[in-house]
Amino acid sequence: MKKDKVLLTGGTGFIGSHTAVELIQAGYEVEILDNLYNSKITALDNIEKITGVRPKFYEVDIRDGDALAKVFAEGNFDTVIHFAGLKAVAESVEKPLTYYEVNIGGTINLLECMQEFGVHKIIFSSSATVYGEPDSPLCVENLPVGRNLANPYGRTKYFIEEILRDVAISDPEFKVTILRYFNPIGAHASGLLGEDPNDKPNNLMPIVMKVAAGEIPELSIFGNDYDTPDGTCIRDYIHVVDLAKGHVAAVEKIGDVEQVQVYNLGTGRGLSVMEIVKAFSKASGMALPHKIVGRRAGDLAALCADPSHAEEMLGWKTELTIDDAMRDTLNYLEKQGVKIK
Ligand code: NAD
Ligand code: UFG
Repeated sequence: MKKDKVLLTGGTGFIGSHTAVELIQAGYEVEILDNLYNSKITALDNIEKITGVRPKFYEVDIRDGDALAKVFAEGNFDTVIHFAGLKAVAESVEKPLTYYEVNIGGTINLLECMQEFGVHKIIFSSSATVYGEPDSPLCVENLPVGRNLANPYGRTKYFIEEILRDVAISDPEFKVTILRYFNPIGAHASGLLGEDPNDKPNNLMPIVMKVAAGEIPELSIFGNDYDTPDGTCIRDYIHVVDLAKGHVAAVEKIGDVEQVQVYNLGTGRGLSVMEIVKAFSKASGMALPHKIVGRRAGDLAALCADPSHAEEMLGWKTELTIDDAMRDTLNYLEKQGVKIK
């Protein structure tokens, strides 16, 4: 059977570029749309180097409805994976309207185009952040969402989930898969793709990478007085290649499952910030400089996926370990010409 033609919005970004590789390698036709706000056009060269296929690329902003419509008029897509958006939590507090405009306004434009051009399947990049402050640190998909969300970024993810449900109610043909990612880390084993934000990094691993490169003197660990075994926060770190494969499984199944599906994509195992520091130090042979500072506002002590629904429904589970993620991150840094200090 012919495989779907898939449009990846935000497909030159960290998760999108890895997903493009896995989809192409699984036999899908992939096209990419991105405005390159937080990614580089060289991602296309690297996808081509890995797969031998250069996806067609549209440099388009999802806020530009007319430009989006032109892409859909040309594309004849079966499925859209919607990665494009802004994701810096602190910035979303400073610029809420920009986050609502890009993430929510952009998604509405995309959904309007999908309706106009008869594209009925969408997979959306949501986040564990929609669980807010869950009663249990182990999240299952049917926990309440949208309560006590700490920032506008998290609210955009929650609102978009609700918008997608409303569109599904309005159109029985419309199929929605919501993927709630936990903490993606790592890089492609080739060292050609990885996390390379255009501006200041906010997340733990990109900061660890800058410390290793000597661009930041030390990692500030936000608090060691949490109710966790070593006092530092626990998260569910998922290798980006495992995460990308989760998207392939979601594309394969979206036509056959109930209209709206929600899956956690995580490993089910939590690691503390201190364990991440140790894993990086072990893989790199350098003692990563770090210091303990005060807690960061809005951080939860522990958050971890229960990924059993994805395993049951998608036949997907993570395969790579934290050591794989560290090895691949170091390989990526080396290929970028970064010398570990
Ligand atoms: P990323 O920034 O690397 O990728 C997002 C891409 O969207 C970038 O290439 C960027 O240039 C593009 N983009 C931004 N604004 C755009 C616009 N107006 N029009 C067109 N393209 C635009 O981020 P990522 O880590 O790959 O994340 C992908 C998605 O997954 C995002 O929606 C993010 O919110 C979500 N997510 C990420 C994480 C994480 O920790 N990385 C966790 C949960 C959810
Ligand atoms: N951390 C530090 N020092 C740093 C950066 C992070 O100690 O310099 C700690 C944080 O306190 C946290 C852990 O490392 O305990 C992970 O922090 P990240 O910022 O990398 O990730 P978060 O878990 O805070 O947030 C991530 C994504 C969000 C998403 C959220 C869902 O970045 O997009 O998961 O839980 F919404």
